[in-house]
Amino acid sequence: MFVQYLPIFTKLDDKPVLVVGGGDVALRKCQAFLKARANVTVVAPEFCTELVELADQGRLTLINEYFDTHHVLGMMLIIAATDNEAVNKAVFDAANAQNIFVNVVDDQPKCGFIFPSIVDRDPITIAISSAGTAPVLARRIREKLETLIPHHTGKLAKLAGEFREQVKARFNTFSDRRQFWERVFDSSVVSKVQVGDEQGAQQQLNDMLTQPSAPEGEVYVVGAGPGDPELLTIKALQLMQQADVVVYDYLVSDEIMELVRRDADLVCVGKKAGHHSVKQEDTNQMLVNYAKQGKKVCRIKGGDPFIYGRGGEEVQVLAKHGVKYQIVPGITAAAGCSAYSGIPLTHRDHAQAIQFVTGHCKKDGQELDWRGLAQSNQTLAVYMGVIKSPHIQAKLLEHGRAPETPIAIVENGTRQSQRVVRGTLGELATKIEQHNIQSPALLIIGEVAALHEELAWFGQTEQVSSFAQPITQVA
Ligand SMILES: C[S@@+](CC[C@H](N)C(=O)[O-])C[C@H]1O[C@@H](n2cnc3c(N)ncnc32)[C@H](O)[C@@H]1O
Repeated sequence: MFVQYLPIFTKLDDKPVLVVGGGDVALRKCQAFLKARANVTVVAPEFCTELVELADQGRLTLINEYFDTHHVLGMMLIIAATDNEAVNKAVFDAANAQNIFVNVVDDQPKCGFIFPSIVDRDPITIAISSAGTAPVLARRIREKLETLIPHHTGKLAKLAGEFREQVKARFNTFSDRRQFWERVFDSSVVSKVQVGDEQGAQQQLNDMLTQPSAPEGEVYVVGAGPGDPELLTIKALQLMQQADVVVYDYLVSDEIMELVRRDADLVCVGKKAGHHSVKQEDTNQMLVNYAKQGKKVCRIKGGDPFIYGRGGEEVQVLAKHGVKYQIVPGITAAAGCSAYSGIPLTHRDHAQAIQFVTGHCKKDGQELDWRGLAQSNQTLAVYMGVIKSPHIQAKLLEHGRAPETPIAIVENGTRQSQRVVRGTLGELATKIEQHNIQSPALLIIGEVAALHEELAWFGQTEQVSSFAQPITQVA
């Protein structure tokens, strides 16, 4: 995949740059260059007072002339900031003839480089660009980041910079150094910097560096939710980005896997009906082994790890081996599918109870309580029920649930490709076959399913607005 602009940060210390134009726009560009300590030359037939003042302070050079191609010679970067299109084009052509990066203000096709929106926590700088397509959107993203990134971040980065060489000398490998810094940024060094106790922060960092401690492994059992990455919890995201190893299932969406730490090792342990690529016992042991090697392991699962996710079994094994762990809940498929299809799981008029049921039992013959499940005034959310749908349908009917009971099948719930198929219990298996329903899909059985027709459109405009495509509704 190509990008229109490669984001790079350039060091302009004493480097020659040219600004053509003498007005306010030129002034702002000069100020940006001066902030980066560039050696700025400004060419224009006349200059605003602020530019003259800057020149008087010896911070830039003014050339009181009309632009000429020779002005570009020897420059690294050039800005054309005049209100004369012909002059801007002449600057653009002259710069290109010399292979010098040029930016013609407010003329994106004539910009070889652009000024991004900046979140400034010096020395941390975050640059945001929409490549000229939507500057207002870029500005709004910047505003969001401004509120998210604490102001002490810059001080923390400076402190880390002061210790960088010592840390390099103390730890030989990149991985050990990274783990050390993860420990630092998880420790109260951060809160000390935040409250202005820089001496205390320095002292603590020094102690952490001099007291030898082997990196301690840990497992994060993280629920990734049903697929929409915006449904991840902040904690899930933080742990995904801290992990050395990410152990994942097929159920975790690609968009979510995009958010794990770039240089983490990724291990797929499968788990699709009929595709158990790694046995559960082997997965359990793998988690223990990685943690014992001192690694931070993110065991990421679709939905919630403790709802049909076998998270319980994995945590039991970790506990037995004395491995440290954290469990992060995720939005389970029933909650995600319910919200994104406009089907409330309970409703005062229709359903006073909700039962989560699996269509995939541990052993054959381990039957569900069909009498209880067939009771009216309740909703069944059936996980892994697609293959066994004829059986589920037959058993519920046999135990007295009415064939007209509304049902909904939500395939790929919360994802861009979500499909909702509506029908009745008497049609359940046929609908699944007719519409070629694929995993993952959730069956919702009960009167509430009929509310989809009424609420899905509301859901689409109000709650599901982040979707690029509308929910596909199939009768
Ligand atoms: C092994 S269970 C895992 C459930 C998961 N731990 C949870 O809390 O959602 C897999 C089943 O969850 C349901 N499921 C998971 N993600 C889904 C999604 N995005 N849309 C519909 N159903 C989903 C399907 O019934 C699928 O067969």
